[in-house]
Amino acid sequence: MPSSIVLGVGGGIAAYKACELLRRFTEDGHQVRVVPTGSALRFVGEATWAALSGQPVTTSVWDGVHEVPHVRLGQRADLVFVAPATADLLARAAAGRADDLLTATLLTARCPVVFAPAMHTEMWEHPATQANVATLRARGCLVLDPAAGRLTGADSGPGRLPEPAELYETALRVLARGPAALHPDLAGRHVLISAGGTREELDPVRFLGNWSSGRQGYALARTAAARGARVTLVSANVELADPAGVRVVRVISARDLEAAVTSAAADADAVVMAAAVADFRPETRTDSKIKKAGLAPEPLRLVENPDILRGLSARRPRPGQVIVGFAAETGDLLRNGHAKLAAKGCDLLVVNQVGAGLAFGTTDNEAVVLASDGTEAKVPRGPKEVLADVVWDLVAARLPG
Ligand code: CTP
Repeated sequence: MPSSIVLGVGGGIAAYKACELLRRFTEDGHQVRVVPTGSALRFVGEATWAALSGQPVTTSVWDGVHEVPHVRLGQRADLVFVAPATADLLARAAAGRADDLLTATLLTARCPVVFAPAMHTEMWEHPATQANVATLRARGCLVLDPAAGRLTGADSGPGRLPEPAELYETALRVLARGPAALHPDLAGRHVLISAGGTREELDPVRFLGNWSSGRQGYALARTAAARGARVTLVSANVELADPAGVRVVRVISARDLEAAVTSAAADADAVVMAAAVADFRPETRTDSKIKKAGLAPEPLRLVENPDILRGLSARRPRPGQVIVGFAAETGDLLRNGHAKLAAKGCDLLVVNQVGAGLAFGTTDNEAVVLASDGTEAKVPRGPKEVLADVVWDLVAARLPG
């Protein structure tokens, strides 16, 4: 359903990335009013925002006074999304200032408000900025963590605006879930997620692998971080940008993944195994490239990999830990799912249909979540973030107090 979105833009170089976010919103049919600060217009001009949004653009409360824009925009919005939020803008929002149209809109908005900060690392880490972020979070705003990486110039560190695709997924999630999306119900929890697909090497240039893109696991990581959790993401061969505020451990094979998961699971409140793990690996991996010439084709000899999910469920490294598996199935979903839930011994199993353009590499997913207590939750086709929220709802309900 089309929504009414206010896109607030602060005066930082990352303002150019907000153009891409705006395009995604409008292509989806949402009505977007862009409200830049005066300094944002030094980076990206009014004409760009007006052309991309198809709406008038103003920074001041003194334009079009008869329409009382400083009150109307905030009151009518379904979502206010501020990207980039500079240190100065966060300070003004935290202080409750209303000295331009954007800050006035922030005071009148009763819908969910999301800030995506971007600034130099020193400014982000300064106690003044951190206090402002804490104030805004305590008031119920969602303040995302900035991504780490290359900043303007040669510096690097936390302070980058997350990629527009990631911001867009966050916005969709907040629009779908409403104010509940801003509730940090996983604060104080450590969650461990595996994502992607393992690769089992045959020689230095070849491997056995699978089509998993890692999107569902990354959506789980982003969503858990937005709900306040400390997140460890064990990522197997994924080409997506690191989710902001998440510790990412990169692995290649099933045995690497087992080592990384085992080490992080020791103090995790919940473990979600979204990765597609190869059940078998080649018996040998040659150090030099296998040559075609002179060799008769030989059958590939495979040996079994450890079943990480089953091992964790049997051991339960931490009392009260909630363990979740994923099952990608091509046949009878429910029958296979129930059998797999019992065989793996986990608390929840997310079962989804794969093949024929379903699940792998797409941004949407459809699933049924089976629980060891016999309950079933059906999740209709929708963004992977929405399925992620359902998984965290079911996990949160099972975590000890
Ligand atoms: N899994 C695991 N270790 C493995 C294989 C799978 O931990 N060696 C986990 C996956 O991360 C997923 C769940 O088990 O959470 C189910 O994966 P799936 O491949 O569907 O299960 P398999 O046991 O391999 O069953 P199948 O015979 O259907 O391949």
